Amino acid sequence: MALLDIRDLVVRYGEIEALRGVSFSVEQGKVVTLLGANGAGKSTTLRAISGLAKPAAGEILFDGKSIAGLGPEAIVRLGISHVPEGRRVFPGLTVKENIMLGASNRRAPKKQLSDEADAMFDLFPDIRAFSNALGWTLSGGQLQMVAVARGLMAKPKLLLLDEPSLGLAPVIVQAVFRIISEIRRTTTVLLVEQNARMGLSVADYGYVLETGRIVLGGKPDELWGNEAIAAAYLGGHAKAG
Ligand SMILES: Nc1ncnc2c1ncn2[C@@H]1O[C@H](COP(=O)(O)OP(=O)(O)O)[C@@H](O)[C@H]1O
Ligand SMILES: [Mg+2]
Repeated sequence: MALLDIRDLVVRYGEIEALRGVSFSVEQGKVVTLLGANGAGKSTTLRAISGLAKPAAGEILFDGKSIAGLGPEAIVRLGISHVPEGRRVFPGLTVKENIMLGASNRRAPKKQLSDEADAMFDLFPDIRAFSNALGWTLSGGQLQMVAVARGLMAKPKLLLLDEPSLGLAPVIVQAVFRIISEIRRTTTVLLVEQNARMGLSVADYGYVLETGRIVLGGKPDELWGNEAIAAAYLGGHAKAG
């Protein structure tokens, strides 16, 4: 059984049907990438999984249990951590305090959580220097690393990452994707990307979402291998990857 199984999911914002019957699954231990143009419904899919958007119809099974319609706190406690678009970081807190916020679902002793937060800087050495500073100024890439580290502090069974590369310079994008390939050793990941080449580079499986529907799914080499499909959905880099 897949860790996450989504069946015929429909989400509406008033009159707008953002998801029109989306079905896909994420196997335990894999990285699955959801690709699609702006407005396709990628973020809405993640928001429905993490309880931020209410499904109008369909089923979301996590570990075999229905979670559709549960609130965000209940879903975090079940082991799903969502790193949303936009890298929200709280300026009044230190970087380490920002990271520790991600553990609010856990009952572990404070000392243990503090040690775990310190250990995050092995994975994210670029932000270690800011650990205990207030009044820090971080680059877009560093803010993204804080956001991902916070997501990992929840010790999730499933990490949802929404466009971690958005707006970052290419060299920083590569650093972020190196981190994702580290994370995948221990955590199942559902990754949303507009950058098809990067998104598929770390994926075991990819799906293409178009105006609220999955139009394509396959292993990365299958998706790249079909030239017509690559040209239509993946930005035309048929031979890339
Ligand atoms: N809060 C909202 N209110 C109304 N419409 C929304 C809202 N959020 C997203 N939408 C619409 O739902 C569709 C899917 O959006 P979204 O899931 O954000 O797409 P993506 O993440 O793929 O860019 C778009 O048509 C978008 O305009
Ligand atoms: Mg989005």
